[in-house]
Amino acid sequence: MSKLEEYGKHSFMNRVQSSNRCLVTGASSGIGAATAIELGRQGYKLCLVARRKDRLEEVRLKALEAGSPEVEVLALDLLDEKSTPILNEQAERTDVLINNAGIGTLAHALDTPIETHLKTVTLNAVRVMEHSHYFALKMRERGYGLVINISSLAAFQSIPYLASYSASKAFVVQWGESLDSELAGTGVRIVSFCPGGTWTEFMDTAGYSAAEVKKISRWMQSSEEVALEIVKCIKNPRAVVIPGATNQLTYALQKMLPRSWLTRSGKKIYSNLMRK
Ligand SMILES: NC(=O)c1ccc[n+]([C@@H]2O[C@H](COP(=O)([O-])OP(=O)(O)OC[C@H]3O[C@@H](n4cnc5c(N)ncnc54)[C@H](OP(=O)(O)O)[C@@H]3O)[C@@H](O)[C@H]2O)c1
Repeated sequence: MSKLEEYGKHSFMNRVQSSNRCLVTGASSGIGAATAIELGRQGYKLCLVARRKDRLEEVRLKALEAGSPEVEVLALDLLDEKSTPILNEQAERTDVLINNAGIGTLAHALDTPIETHLKTVTLNAVRVMEHSHYFALKMRERGYGLVINISSLAAFQSIPYLASYSASKAFVVQWGESLDSELAGTGVRIVSFCPGGTWTEFMDTAGYSAAEVKKISRWMQSSEEVALEIVKCIKNPRAVVIPGATNQLTYALQKMLPRSWLTRSGKKIYSNLMRK
């Protein structure tokens, strides 16, 4: 690590306190909700963003009960471009931004309307780029801050039947890792956090077969396990983080095996997982 990078790391680390304010998008369910509650347990102030206000209110109460001193909720549809300036108003008061909201569709790419793919890419990649650009700019002015972008193991290989999803997640890693390197020495870090299969509502909304998912569930993590690893990144930020031993093994194989083999095996696995 260069002296400049070392300085950047320490200047961020010195400012990490439990009184910091974290903004979590997609906080109404799954990984985002579990992360909000874990951050609450560790005493962070919170701002929770998603569309479903009733679900956000439930998470708000749980995070307060867990120990957060202050939890605000912001009901926003992040696909609506009018939401971007509203979210950006939070930047001055945000020490840690967690870009977690994401969607996907498990289906034949050409039998899925283009509008669905565009929504996936807009929410998972374009909004992540817009939010991290604006917030990191404000953080750089202040001299410290952290952005955690939730990508996926799907970023590291092409996945037939999840084509736009895996492409959007690859974008998040390439964008985040480059930005993190450019920000060395500024006190601002960008983490690309890449979970593997995790039990959440995502499986249902994306069109997975519940029976098939059950068969592979022993390889999956719970939202709470993933949330713990996300929160650890605040004290130990790294450019790319893969949570859990099974996911780390998968990642090692993704780097070693030929791309054509990975695509073929991905096709078999995800074709089985599709709701028929
Ligand atoms: N589950 C997995 O296996 C897995 C694996 C790797 C990566 N991930 C990633 O982890 C992240 C969280 O997913 P999850 O598994 O926890 O799924 P989830 O339970 O379905 O959560 C998705 C969250 O995104 C929010 N969201 C969706 N569309 C939105 C919009 N237009 N505007 C604002 N918020 C929106 C949802 O809230 P509302 O519906 O209330 O808006 C919800 O809070 C995603 O980025 C996903 O790609 C998941």
